[in-house]
Amino acid sequence: MMGKGPGKLRSVLVVDDEENLRHMLSVTLGKQGYAVDQAANGEEALEKSTVRDYDFILCDIRMPVMDGPAFLARMVERGGGTTIIMMSAYGTMTDALDCMKQGAYDFISKPFKNDEIVLTLRKAEEREKLKRENRRLKKLLGREYSFAHIYSKNPRMQEIFTLVRKVADFRTTVLVLGESGTGKELIARAVHFNSNRRSAPFVAVNCGAIPESLLESELFGHVRGAFTDASGDKAGLFEQANGGTLFLDEIGELPLPLQVKLLRVLQEGEIRRVGATASVPIDARVISATSKDLAREVAEQRFREDLFFRLNVFSIVLPPLRERLEDIPLLVDHFLEKYGERYGLFGVSVTSGFIHALMEYTWPGNVRELENCVERALVLCDGGDIDEPCLPATVRAMLTDEVCTSSEEESLSIKRAEAALERRLIAKALAVTGGNRTHAAKLLDISHRALLYKIKEFGIC
Ligand SMILES: Nc1ncnc2c1ncn2[C@@H]1O[C@H](COP(=O)(O)OP(=O)(O)OP(=O)(O)O)[C@@H](O)[C@H]1O
Ligand SMILES: [Mg+2]
Repeated sequence: MMGKGPGKLRSVLVVDDEENLRHMLSVTLGKQGYAVDQAANGEEALEKSTVRDYDFILCDIRMPVMDGPAFLARMVERGGGTTIIMMSAYGTMTDALDCMKQGAYDFISKPFKNDEIVLTLRKAEEREKLKRENRRLKKLLGREYSFAHIYSKNPRMQEIFTLVRKVADFRTTVLVLGESGTGKELIARAVHFNSNRRSAPFVAVNCGAIPESLLESELFGHVRGAFTDASGDKAGLFEQANGGTLFLDEIGELPLPLQVKLLRVLQEGEIRRVGATASVPIDARVISATSKDLAREVAEQRFREDLFFRLNVFSIVLPPLRERLEDIPLLVDHFLEKYGERYGLFGVSVTSGFIHALMEYTWPGNVRELENCVERALVLCDGGDIDEPCLPATVRAMLTDEVCTSSEEESLSIKRAEAALERRLIAKALAVTGGNRTHAAKLLDISHRALLYKIKEFGIC
């Protein structure tokens, strides 16, 4: 059986005023696994295709009431993804050619053999598949170039997107800071794909994941015989990223001796492969990222100050998810779509209770943790709505012990517990409204003045 989705037949509408021909085609195509409908003229066909989206329409040219070209024009006007194939009898060849200019996919001359019509449909199907694939790839590519895949309506994130666009075309190093899972790599990629280096490679390396002994040759390459295992020359990641961008992730993990070497590369714009005597010029833009407090690493002498300044020419600090709770519904939708596609679970929705619970949680693992949480919930939901029972224990614990877990309430003082709760609600309302105090006051059900007073009292900014 020819299937589109699971169990779905490809549908064909046969439009012709000759009943015999409609019947013959219905039988032939039915045998080939198509679901076939019939219409005796353009008007009837128009009606039928309002009710149902056909994959294909085989349409005669000369018919009473509404002829083929008129029907085609109406279909093109409507838009949609139906592939229309004209059937031209003797004397209607020019009309058929005109129809192709108007948007018909192909035409087939009458009389035709059964095989011919099946072949034409198969060809059209193949083309549809390619078109879909093409659209999918274009979308993917477009996503990488733009910010379409980074979801946020938070004003601070929007500012960051503006910064990224501005800095993209300069060669300056960029340092991306933020807690784990806040989207540092996404931002690094956005810098690259918004820059004029976008068609050159984006090479990412996790400085914390490669043993120190290998890292130097990974980054800078080596020549044959540089060390025991070096059986040939090898280009390093810097060279691979030439003309493009080198993303040094977890830069805080870079061992001190390599920090010195990296600094030299950045200053001189050339690299020397391990074991080589000469340096070669290199043009790779360096973006680094870390979830560590790099300034503190410098203060504690684990990170060289000179390198820090060099990397930190332009820094982008990503806010943690708990400071942009308004993004949660948006991200949930995005991840539902992403994993829905992966697992073939479409149209699953979440209850407002579920979203509410997510907004109560503090998200130490930020967007990545939320992503995992949604993926897990989708798997658990059995195709029904996603509700609170699908939440991971960490999030649920936060809900039940809401008032009792934070240290402020350990004293059992109701007054302090109340203050802590008020503080959290205010912070949340401000986050949800993007800092709009008038709107936040409304949500909190207190006066604008009372809110300003409390903001000051609690030192919320
Ligand atoms: N704003 C966002 N919109 C959509 N997806 C996001 C967003 N932010 C992060 N993600 C997703 O969350 C995951 C973590 O993002 P990313 O790897 O960029 O974070 P990170 O800050 O580099 O984390 P780590 O410090 O752990 O390396 C990825 O799957 C990413 O696609
Ligand atoms: Mg990362």
